[in-house]
Amino acid sequence: MPGRLCLFGEHSDWAGLHRVLNADVPPGQALVTGIDQGIYATVKESSRFILHNTSPELAEGWSDLDSEMTLERLKEIAEGDSYFSYVAGVALYMSEHYYIGGLEITITKMDLPQKSGLSSSAAICVLIARAFNQIYGLNLNTIGEMRVAYYGERKTSSRCGRLDQACAFGKSPVLMTFDGEEIGVNRLIVKNPLYWVVANLNSAKDTIRILSDLNRCYPFPQNAVEQGVHEALGKDNQAIVAEAIRLIREGNAEALGKLLTHAQQVFDQKVAPASPEELRSPVLHRILEDSSVKALSYGGKGVGSQGDGSVQFLAKSKEDQGKLVDYLNGNGLEAYAFTIPEKHQIRKAVIPVAGFGTRLYPMTRVIKKEFLPIFDSDGTVKPLILKLFEEVIRSGIEEICLIVGSKDEITQYKKAFSEPISEEHRSKLPADFLAMEDRIQAIGRRLVYKVQEHKLGFGHAVYQSREFCGGEPVLLILGDTLYRSETKKPCAMQLIERYEEVGKPLIAIQEIPPERSGSFGVLAGTWEDDARKLMKVERFVEKPSPDLARNELSMMIEGGGKAVYGVFGQYILTPEIFHELGQIIRTEKTQNGEFQLTDAYAAVMGFPGLYGAVLDGRMYDLGNVQAYKESIMTFE
Ligand code: UTP
Repeated sequence: MPGRLCLFGEHSDWAGLHRVLNADVPPGQALVTGIDQGIYATVKESSRFILHNTSPELAEGWSDLDSEMTLERLKEIAEGDSYFSYVAGVALYMSEHYYIGGLEITITKMDLPQKSGLSSSAAICVLIARAFNQIYGLNLNTIGEMRVAYYGERKTSSRCGRLDQACAFGKSPVLMTFDGEEIGVNRLIVKNPLYWVVANLNSAKDTIRILSDLNRCYPFPQNAVEQGVHEALGKDNQAIVAEAIRLIREGNAEALGKLLTHAQQVFDQKVAPASPEELRSPVLHRILEDSSVKALSYGGKGVGSQGDGSVQFLAKSKEDQGKLVDYLNGNGLEAYAFTIPEKHQIRKAVIPVAGFGTRLYPMTRVIKKEFLPIFDSDGTVKPLILKLFEEVIRSGIEEICLIVGSKDEITQYKKAFSEPISEEHRSKLPADFLAMEDRIQAIGRRLVYKVQEHKLGFGHAVYQSREFCGGEPVLLILGDTLYRSETKKPCAMQLIERYEEVGKPLIAIQEIPPERSGSFGVLAGTWEDDARKLMKVERFVEKPSPDLARNELSMMIEGGGKAVYGVFGQYILTPEIFHELGQIIRTEKTQNGEFQLTDAYAAVMGFPGLYGAVLDGRMYDLGNVQAYKESIMTFE
């Protein structure tokens, strides 16, 4: 579990809470990110609540917690002042609300600095919440885990903020919105990596005093100073946060750094006067004005409640990030580097694999077509589905939903990708295969399953993933295809990036020979760009005859010729597509007894619109004998 850092919008979490009493207070907004440093632990089920430590960082003076899992005992620990009060607070909250047993937790590594504004307390609380969730299968989503961690920590004497638990989202930066009691969380798109540095000023500040001074300005401002605090944490903050989201999305690090400096100026002008002693922050300002620091960074500002606690900078490059850390450490500060990685809007993928594979009978009597062996360019032989997992993970996907045909298939997949191989077999693997084994296990942890009870077609299979998708746009990829990109970016990533521009239902398309149109969904419309890579789709016909494809569905291409475009096997599913699939299934609109995805995409052509994207790459079909033969010979 990583620590978290608030990039913009500190204090707006509690300020937004005052909307309950004063509707003129705008909702709070903060950009928060998980960082590289964190707490690592392994957990297993137990009847007691036990915390061990094997990390060297916490070894000094450590003695294990071993408690009964009873409300009385957990309450006693939570309300005490031991190191274990937070974890006991979360365990207490959990046992008050769920029928669960205990946990045995072993902290294996802890490289998160404590008391540096990086919220190590929230990290351990979310870790415990997630551990209960996973071990007892509670089905809490990430916001659910955050809430448990928040209310758990509140059972102790600690007064954590509402943005602290953003570490639950891992290293993704998120926009958090605080509207009264309600919290909203949205992930941000990050075009380029951002090289951040945070440093403990090793000075003194009184957070409680800052919070009490600033809270006095709420809910209703009584004078000009208090009015200034409302403006800074309200509309000024909203404007800064909106600008920051845009700059992060565009990858404009220089302007983002300047915005950090601007945010500090607004804070100094409008918030600091409400707590002048604590927020004058001479140490912070000295370091912000330091010429060597300025040469290495685009800008910086205070951290958390502000004051002389910690400082953050956006370094100009990876190299400057390292230099800045060294410089700050050499000047009596404790500095840490962390990098916000490139992040895309789409982080979930769906792969339907429930089909019987009639066209590959009788082989599919024995093995599923997704397990067909593929010769990879690294000299290994892999099951087809593993190649697909690798494609989507390289494209930034974090969770993969497999639509399987039965519970037995779940067992089969778990055995293939989640269970470790025996020690005996492991001992035979050379080092590079052992590394691959670890990668496979890591992939296994990203898999979730949905069963398609009745084989009612591709559209019906996709519909089973509606809860997994939960209103987010997701990548859909066929289970019996392979892709080879002609650029450094995998095909799926190219499609995801296109979606970030278009924001509408989108299908990857490819030029196909017109005589093979009977095996494809064929799309036609108008080109949106000179390069003829983005099509506004106006017709979408499933398996048309070659004549129909040639005469009515062909598109102009460069050089004056004409071409027919068919589906490529990768799609972006949006909530509108699920809505249409729902309608199709409810009204039993089938084609040959199957619910077709094509019908759902065709239904959104008018509104909100449908787009086709030509990618730089090739698709290899493995779903029928001829295509399988060709693909296996030519995939390289
Ligand atoms: P296909 O159209 O290739 O169907 O499915 P199929 O059943 O696998 O193969 P044939 O046509 O009988 O030979 C495209 C993708 O959709 C999945 C398949 O597993 C494949 O990945 N699918 C299809 C389902 O998950 N459920 C279905 O009801 C149909």
